[in-house]
Amino acid sequence: MTAIAQTRVALLPPDVAYAERLFALIDESRGTLRVWLPWVDATRSVEDSRQFLAGIADGARNGAVCASWLVERNGELAGCIDIHGISKLHRSGFLGYWLADRFVGEGVMGEAAAQALDAGFGALELNRIAILAGVDNTRSRAVAERLGFVREGAQREGLYLHGRYHDACQYSMLAGDWRARR
Ligand SMILES: CC(C)(COP(=O)(O)OP(=O)(O)OC[C@H]1O[C@@H](n2cnc3c(N)ncnc32)[C@H](O)[C@@H]1OP(=O)(O)O)[C@@H](O)C(=O)NCCC(=O)NCCS
Repeated sequence: MTAIAQTRVALLPPDVAYAERLFALIDESRGTLRVWLPWVDATRSVEDSRQFLAGIADGARNGAVCASWLVERNGELAGCIDIHGISKLHRSGFLGYWLADRFVGEGVMGEAAAQALDAGFGALELNRIAILAGVDNTRSRAVAERLGFVREGAQREGLYLHGRYHDACQYSMLAGDWRARR
């Protein structure tokens, strides 16, 4: 196991300056990423990544329902994480994340997700953050379970990917749970 102490994980605000690196990262791992992420097949060029980053930056300025970050491991772009579907009324949102293949298996997402939860329950003032992961998405479910998310149940056919419905596990973390764990 790689010691996380030797691995510096940072969350960066999205910026169009990362478009080329972001597209290259998606492109090198698209075979793995497309299995659970429906937007991967539609990401075909640097311009697609530029528009994605520009959209997030606009959203952030206009009080968006999504907070997104680029994930760096030791100064290298490794993936993305976000809290999407934010309801300001209910103070809740959903955590989403991905890593390029070569950064998987080092604990990078565990650390990135912990930082995103700190932001979600801190500056964003959320009370509840959920993760929805395909029942067969064992790596994503393991991220949720290692962080201490509580499994609430399975959504029947909660995900539609590549022409097929998949049952999905829903997990949640409450602000009070997270404070007690940190
Ligand atoms: C989901 C995803 C981000 C998980 O990545 P990951 O690297 O497995 O997750 P973590 O950062 O929590 O790392 C855990 C792994 O690192 C290993 N590890 C190594 N050093 C570690 C450390 N210091 N601390 C914690 N884990 C460590 C763990 O043993 C584990 O590997 P294993 O399962 O082979 O034993 C990745 O598989 C992915 O991007 N998948 C495709 C996109 C996707 O499905 N997104 C989620 C949609 S719901």
